[in-house]
Amino acid sequence: MPDLVSVDDLTEKQAKAELARLAVEIRAADAAYFQDDAPHMDDAAYDALRQRNLAIEARFPELKRKDSPTDRVGAAPAEGFAKARHAAPMLSLDNAFSDEDVVEFAARVRRFLGLPADETLALTAEPKIDGLSLSLTYEDGVLIRAATRGDGQEGEDVTANARTIADVPEKLGGSGWPDRIEVRGEVYLSHEDFAALNAREEEAGRKTYANPRNAAAGGLRQIDAEITRTRNLKFFAYAWGLVSGPFAETQTEAVAALASWGFDTNSLFARHEAVEGLIDAYRAIEADRAALGYDIDGVVYKVDRLDWQARLGFVSRAPRWAIAHKFPAEKAITKLEAIDIQVGRTGSLTPVARLTPVTVGGVVVSNATLHNEDEIARLGVKPGDTVEVQRAGDVIPQILRVVTDGGGEPFQMPQRCPICESAAIREVDEKGEEDVRRRCTGGLICAAQAVERLKHFVSRKALDIDGLGAKQIALFYEKGLLAGPQDIFRLVSRIEAAGLPPLSEWEGFGETSARKLIDAIDARRQPDFDRFLAGLGVRHVGETTAGLYARNFISWDAFWGAVHAAAEEGEEGEAFAALTAIDGIGATAARALVAFVREPHNEEMMTALLSEVSVQDAEAASSDSPVAGKTVVFTGALEKMTRDEAKARATALGAKVSGSVSKKTDLVVAGPGAGSKLKKAEDLGIETLTEDEWLDLIGV
Ligand code: IVH
Repeated sequence: MPDLVSVDDLTEKQAKAELARLAVEIRAADAAYFQDDAPHMDDAAYDALRQRNLAIEARFPELKRKDSPTDRVGAAPAEGFAKARHAAPMLSLDNAFSDEDVVEFAARVRRFLGLPADETLALTAEPKIDGLSLSLTYEDGVLIRAATRGDGQEGEDVTANARTIADVPEKLGGSGWPDRIEVRGEVYLSHEDFAALNAREEEAGRKTYANPRNAAAGGLRQIDAEITRTRNLKFFAYAWGLVSGPFAETQTEAVAALASWGFDTNSLFARHEAVEGLIDAYRAIEADRAALGYDIDGVVYKVDRLDWQARLGFVSRAPRWAIAHKFPAEKAITKLEAIDIQVGRTGSLTPVARLTPVTVGGVVVSNATLHNEDEIARLGVKPGDTVEVQRAGDVIPQILRVVTDGGGEPFQMPQRCPICESAAIREVDEKGEEDVRRRCTGGLICAAQAVERLKHFVSRKALDIDGLGAKQIALFYEKGLLAGPQDIFRLVSRIEAAGLPPLSEWEGFGETSARKLIDAIDARRQPDFDRFLAGLGVRHVGETTAGLYARNFISWDAFWGAVHAAAEEGEEGEAFAALTAIDGIGATAARALVAFVREPHNEEMMTALLSEVSVQDAEAASSDSPVAGKTVVFTGALEKMTRDEAKARATALGAKVSGSVSKKTDLVVAGPGAGSKLKKAEDLGIETLTEDEWLDLIGV
């Protein structure tokens, strides 16, 4: 580290840079100390950093940063907790917004299970608590861990804090609990405790919380569990993750069991035998909403029978057996100040409304999406107008209508990209229909697209590189260090080649943070197949499609080979067929991949990128199943389950389900009435099974 300039001699510019550096250094030191239990400096060195920060702030009070270490004791909450992997993923819920959606949900469940019309489908209804979910692991009836949801697979270990919540039993009471169980539910704050907390915060001159949900989240993620205790958080139990053995046959029984072990369960929980009952319950809970004393944002319906829940399973991240019926979104009136254009990863130009900030349902809204120029025309909205905005849950706020005309000029969508000035056009598809989105044609020369693509590549759902976020990408790009994703892995040498000082000497970086960033990048040199593919940002190949390709091809090389073969042979060839033979993947994704590799720039980029990383082969979804990795075709009538259920079950076990029989088929499950497919299978010598034999094989 260069010799430090004494605080008294610092210029304002140097002081600003120093405060930025110190903020990063101290945060890194805190994280090492609190989170990793591995301090990388001694106490004296640490104190010196804090002293210096304090002295600079005293001399230049106006330069004090919003994230100043002076205002923080310990690590920032987000960095202060160890990671905790859930034994069973924490799912989210699909939403219903109307009575029709609920009717359709019940019908879908019936269809999937193949229930006859006279069979009762019992469903439960309960409030959807607006808090944050928590998973409590009990072993032999004793709480051993509490974890937040995180990304659903891995959350934060908040055990010490959860132990301060009165509603979280340290030991389970009653009897009949499984040896090991993950009890799940919602941490929330009552309106009363929320108001009291904000009053205390205000008195102490600290920032108040926007809503009880944020306050509950802040309370649970305190470094000091004693602060959590003062928040008076509450907990409703409503679900479970992994259990060592069955403990109930229905949702109703399960919730009663949770209550008997000492958990608080919601008193409005009820079982209904018809959809009409659910809708009535929704209306009653909605009417009661203001009087409940805590925030709720809808009503959750769940299939009561647990054996049916198991058969229904889940799609991507939400169970097929439950749905959240949301209350109508909250609305507010404000002024549209201006319309800005954002350029996305695929070049699409999105008009964004800049609003006079307004509180909608407890959250300050200052931007809303306008989607595209057709939407602007439909709304007839112009800068200067007063508009009604709506915010529903976590979705981006939307403009509903113009309330009063501000007399301004109509908005003109730019015909050129505001970033690179290339023509921005609306593509016309094969059917002669115009795309609603206008896209920049600049492709690789467009800085906005390049930056968005890079951000996407390192984002949480793709390579997930710690410490490399939007800000850093923009900075490195601006300095000309990143022409494509491959350069992320060449950052150190690119910096050197550009004649720039090493990263550790840059403003905002220190020895520690620079090293951490480079380590985080190196840690991603063996990316997972699905994350890597999703990160490339090929159009129509998102997270779900990438996951399907990974699970079906297993080997990246085999997959990438198939894409190249398809690019050579065209759509009639075998390779293209292989890319589209997967349930859930259509020709659009395969075409987009082919178009991607046919573009020479992309090929060059991929060659460079693949010389830096080695993509890991995927694992079959369930390698211990005898059907994992096998290609299965169902034909004829099935009698024990619907076709959808059979397919879903097979896919969940790691099999590929295909619609047609070919040399690549491993198994054909044939029911009564099977015709040409069965014949073809026999001709090709492919193993055929009856439905019962199939069920035996998969262990049902
Ligand atoms: S059941 C497998 N029940 O809503 C289904 N969730 O949007 C697990 N939530 O992550 C959820 N109240 O945090 C369930 N009564 C309730 C709920 C509830 C609130 C939250 C939960 C979940 C989110 C999904």
